[in-house]
Amino acid sequence: MLAEQYHPIDIKILDKNSDLAFNIFSKVQGGDEDRFVLYASKEARYREKVRELLESSELMEELFIHEDDLVLYFEHATNSLRDYVINSDATPEKKMEKVYDLSRDVTHQFFEANSSPEILRGSGQVVDLMEKCLEDNKLGFHGLTKIMEKDYYTYTHSINVGLYCMSFALKIGMPADEVHELGLGGMLHDVGKSSIPQEIINKKGALTEEEFQTIKNHTSNGIEVIRGLGCYGEKVVEMVGQHHEKYNGEGYHQGLVGDDIALFARICKLTDVYDALTTRRSYKKSLKTLEALTIMKTKMGHEFDPKLLNSFIRMMGPQA
Ligand SMILES: [Fe+2]
Ligand SMILES: [Fe+2]
Repeated sequence: MLAEQYHPIDIKILDKNSDLAFNIFSKVQGGDEDRFVLYASKEARYREKVRELLESSELMEELFIHEDDLVLYFEHATNSLRDYVINSDATPEKKMEKVYDLSRDVTHQFFEANSSPEILRGSGQVVDLMEKCLEDNKLGFHGLTKIMEKDYYTYTHSINVGLYCMSFALKIGMPADEVHELGLGGMLHDVGKSSIPQEIINKKGALTEEEFQTIKNHTSNGIEVIRGLGCYGEKVVEMVGQHHEKYNGEGYHQGLVGDDIALFARICKLTDVYDALTTRRSYKKSLKTLEALTIMKTKMGHEFDPKLLNSFIRMMGPQA
């Protein structure tokens, strides 16, 4: 029994009105390694116990599922959260916090544990929930930034970029299907990094030429991953493949110039850089909004579509 095959779950997110499609385990400590024992089964005879468990608010014990059931768990959690987002009286911030937690769990699994396409497929549903929160709640950039995690990890960065893209798209009045595509592309833009060793991604010092080349390949790797899944439109593929292109033509992979870079990729470039500047890494502190926008305008202006950059700055300003 391998401990890393068991994944902690948020019991509060489970829906007490539907039958579970997976077994739940508790952890027993002792000996050389932890053991996981069946706590509640998906079998019909456990139904009452499961219901009691979900209704008890005092449950302190941490519970787990086996990694083979992750996709089922994420599906269940997404459905249950949809109900909460649509029907509960909770504040907009609370709703978005829960959606953020679930998406962090999904993307964390994908990037750091289990790069399975089935897990990634669930991200479309999560983007729908984010969209619901953003549309209904008018959280705005500032409400959003309070919820976002500010330590840089590829998985939280991916969610942040997706959220910024959607929020920006809503503010500039893009239609709902485009808001959705932008959110999806933002969440998936660095998907090609899942195959790069963590030591290179998190390296503190300067990268060697070879390591830099490996990192740069994440855009073309990403296109392969996304195409391989076969369920994303061309705009998402463009965001994945072109988000490191610079408006002056000095970016990678193709060195595209100006409006030859797809509109969605130009938006992704802005939100990608903004999130990278405003999050902490082991070797750098995070910048405040104004500092980040100033650098983007004065030192990096040539990298962005100037019109989009101005709209972005206006929207991130104090009155947004
Ligand atoms: Fe990237
Ligand atoms: Fe990125």
